[in-house]
Amino acid sequence: MGNTYAVCGARGRVGGVVARQLLAAGHTVRVVTRDPNGLGDLVALGAQVRAGSLRDREHLTELMRGVDAVFVLTPVDVSAPDVNAVQRAVVDATAAAIRDSAVPRVVLLSSWGAELTEPVGGIIACHWFEQVLDEIDGLHRVHLRPVWFMENFLWNIALIKSVGINGSTVGADKPIPAIATPDIAAVAVDYLRSLTFEGRTVHYLNGARDYTMTEVTRILGESIGRPDLRYFRLTDDVLRKGMVNSGGLTPDAARLVLQISGAMDTGMVHAEPRSPHNTTPTTLEQFAETTFAPMYRAAPDASWRDKVGGALLRSYLTASQRRPA
Ligand SMILES: NC(=O)c1ccc[n+]([C@@H]2O[C@H](COP(=O)([O-])OP(=O)(O)OC[C@H]3O[C@@H](n4cnc5c(N)ncnc54)[C@H](OP(=O)(O)O)[C@@H]3O)[C@@H](O)[C@H]2O)c1
Repeated sequence: MGNTYAVCGARGRVGGVVARQLLAAGHTVRVVTRDPNGLGDLVALGAQVRAGSLRDREHLTELMRGVDAVFVLTPVDVSAPDVNAVQRAVVDATAAAIRDSAVPRVVLLSSWGAELTEPVGGIIACHWFEQVLDEIDGLHRVHLRPVWFMENFLWNIALIKSVGINGSTVGADKPIPAIATPDIAAVAVDYLRSLTFEGRTVHYLNGARDYTMTEVTRILGESIGRPDLRYFRLTDDVLRKGMVNSGGLTPDAARLVLQISGAMDTGMVHAEPRSPHNTTPTTLEQFAETTFAPMYRAAPDASWRDKVGGALLRSYLTASQRRPA
């Protein structure tokens, strides 16, 4: 007989794959969402949908009552005026529901850097989440600590289309580990299906290898037929304006992204040393082929106005790079 699970964030990237794989393995899966119409094939696959929010303690308690294990996370809502406040509300409601429903096992989508006590972007909420779960008596919990999501590079599609470059605030030669989100879901599903984890487990997920931004740019560029794509290290100010004006992020969300990029660049946010246990299969080359390139091709071209602004920015960046320091 199959097990019963509650999956939070099933409309999201990791939770969606977790829910689908558990259903495919014949288990009962309850999901929570504010938008049941946005669940795609999950309903047809048999997911039991409980419409509601991750910030609603009573709703989450009902969702989790009687299940064998839950998958939880704290979203990063880039449209929120105060991103950490939304995260805190989700952490508190979810942890209270875990306690109230007496669910025995939890797999948390945490993050690299979750050991840090000072606020770094949305990562501080993963720190809070691990802490509150660690305080629940008798709870068996896995804290998954994945590194930088390869899917974050999809944000750069608009930059590539309008400015004709790749860029971020991270130094061009700084090696950064990056992971494809289906690899996180696969590990989460292994834990959930086994139901054998005891006490506290911390599992880093370091991706297939580390990549410098120069390499990232070459790999992504080749996948879209632009092998000469160049990487520029942007200032915080340039990236902030881009994220707020064209990316639709709130100023607070942009501030948090810049905090994380800065902390990656200095090494303040870092993974544990690489090992077979924390290395995951999907390479950036595979991600570029299967995900980045198709999404690049499907994305609309930049408007005439954005292209003019982009050309000006590209000239400015090229000139600043030539200028002696
Ligand atoms: N990006 C990275 O590089 C990185 C690295 C390490 C760890 N992480 C962690 O990964 C997690 C995100 O995972 P993901 O990308 O799979 O998630 P996701 O796709 O962003 O979405 C997760 C879910 O959050 C819910 N949600 C969004 N805003 C909400 C709000 N204001 N109130 C209540 N619910 C809300 C949505 O539920 P509805 O269906 O109700 O809309 C959605 O299903 C975060 O905890 C982040 O810290 C990210």
